[in-house]
Amino acid sequence: MNTDKRVEGFSKLTKEEKIQWLCRTYFSEETYAATYFNRYNNADAALQKRHDEFIENAVANYYLPFAVAPNFSINGKVYTVPMVIEESSVVAACSRAAKFWQSKGGFQAEVLSTEKSGQVHFFFYGEKEHLQAFLSAIKTKMLDNCKPITANMEKRGGGITSITLLDKTDELPHYYQLFATFETLDAMGANFINSCLESFSNTFRAEAAHDPNIDGNYEIVMSILSNYVPKCLAKASVSCPVELLTVGDMSGEEFAQKFVRALAVANADVYRATTHNKGIMNGIDSVILATGNDFRAIEAGAHAYAARSGKYQSLTRALVENGIFSFEIEIPLALGTVGGLTTLHPLAKTALQILENPNAETLMQIVACVGLAQNFSAVSSLITLGIQKGHMKMHLMNILTQLGATETEKQYVVDYFKNKTISHSEVEKLLADLRKDK
Ligand code: MEV
Repeated sequence: MNTDKRVEGFSKLTKEEKIQWLCRTYFSEETYAATYFNRYNNADAALQKRHDEFIENAVANYYLPFAVAPNFSINGKVYTVPMVIEESSVVAACSRAAKFWQSKGGFQAEVLSTEKSGQVHFFFYGEKEHLQAFLSAIKTKMLDNCKPITANMEKRGGGITSITLLDKTDELPHYYQLFATFETLDAMGANFINSCLESFSNTFRAEAAHDPNIDGNYEIVMSILSNYVPKCLAKASVSCPVELLTVGDMSGEEFAQKFVRALAVANADVYRATTHNKGIMNGIDSVILATGNDFRAIEAGAHAYAARSGKYQSLTRALVENGIFSFEIEIPLALGTVGGLTTLHPLAKTALQILENPNAETLMQIVACVGLAQNFSAVSSLITLGIQKGHMKMHLMNILTQLGATETEKQYVVDYFKNKTISHSEVEKLLADLRKDK
């Protein structure tokens, strides 16, 4: 075993050498490399190479289940939605909600806006009027110098839609922004936006060198897109007469009112709001991952949007009016269906095919519906039976696998717990008794 964990030039090692180094440093067993790294590398060398090339220092594949939630009726069309997630009950809950709403008119969805933005953040120490004049004078040049980057996007109808100087000196002395907006069509557009922004900065620097009012009076801190996309919004909704919401002994009216109160709680209390929105993101992230999109970007943007009023609140809204229950979500979703992993990752491509190759706007609508469905399922369970019953039922298989149960033992235990409360210790006890009896 290596005791010194420092390593020079790790990225230059071959994949095999990296695995050997990891095994020498962290695992004493000789067989570890074969069992835990090589086994999780694909025998198809070309496919494995594709995955290895996504990131630096790749040593194995990390599998997550790829599932589908069928029966999503969205604007009258039925979708089977691919989801990648490890949490046991998410797909089951999502599918349940999809089926439930399918029989009640399905989901309605729309894209409210598709604007993305990026900023050149800089400090300026001279006269604001000089800065304004300078930027007006170089704006055309800034756009012209971007042409090699924007030409293709413009051909398809997208590109840079505005560049504005923002005075942010009230928030931070000398802080200004070039605030640029973009239309990136079916691409998520991160590379496109960042390349444009860096080109703006380069033009700024080059032109500033000839302007004594600017030269030496500024510092460009950074040029980067924003994952806050409050103008790249999708909306999804469902509604039905309250009578259709009856669950067991709970009347539809009672269910609907309790549901609305559950959302009021999420709006009043940040502890609940965070978990409430986490449940929404269970569904959203799963589709984002399956389709090769950037779930960190979507997460960051969604939570910032949830806090847009200054208080972190629910991303969904519910209402009962004239006997009709309405439930909706409005969420920023900067998604792509071309470029990046969407084309490179074979399963992302498959996921998009299952969705019948949507454009970015259709994918935004589908994802918003999944978030709404997931939230409907979670809140419905919470205000009725609680989530643990369903969750533990799904989780039982994980417990059994963890305890090394055979197929026969699994079947016996599943049958045994059909109408009983499942807990890790109860399962453990039952298995021990079962094995003792043998
Ligand atoms: C669990 O992953 C998600 C829930 O906690 C969401 C919620 O509480 O609304 C069930």
